[in-house]
Amino acid sequence: MRRAIYPGSFDPVTNGHLDIIERGCKLFDEIIISILVNPDKQPFFSIEEREEMLNEILGDIHKGGCRLHVDSFRGLLVNYAVAKQANAIVRGIRAISDYEYELQMALMNRRLEPSIETVFMMPAETYSYVSSRLVKEVFHLGGVIEGLVPPLIEKRMKEKAKS
Ligand code: PNS
Repeated sequence: MRRAIYPGSFDPVTNGHLDIIERGCKLFDEIIISILVNPDKQPFFSIEEREEMLNEILGDIHKGGCRLHVDSFRGLLVNYAVAKQANAIVRGIRAISDYEYELQMALMNRRLEPSIETVFMMPAETYSYVSSRLVKEVFHLGGVIEGLVPPLIEKRMKEKAKS
């Protein structure tokens, strides 16, 4: 039973994240999509909102015998991964610019916990420029985000902006 943690802020989840999850499902029996509780960041969506939206969206791509769970965590990722009895951490790499930071994190995590492997996966080229940060920026400035995030996320972003 191969279990992976796919950690991140997911504020909000993008089509790039979903692409990585689908690809990860080819390698792992179970993936836990784990949202970091980060008290230092002012998020657009609360942890509860992100968990709820991810659960709703992931129900639709639960295919091919791979189990998906949504969870949140605080503190060190590797401690959480060990507690969840995971074998690996999955991270998406879009471009070379992601690589330096991701390599640093992967090596630090390996030093902290040698039993957990980090697996880097590449999303489809279509999503190579898509990030939660840019999606939020484009959205707040009135740009079109259709096709970058699932329709549910676009809807919730519009509702949230109105409230
Ligand atoms: O989606 P993000 O914001 O790029 O995800 C970053 C994340 C959650 C993977 C990273 O910040 C993390 O693992 N934080 C947990 C704290 C931790 O373990 N820090 C040491 C990492 S070397």
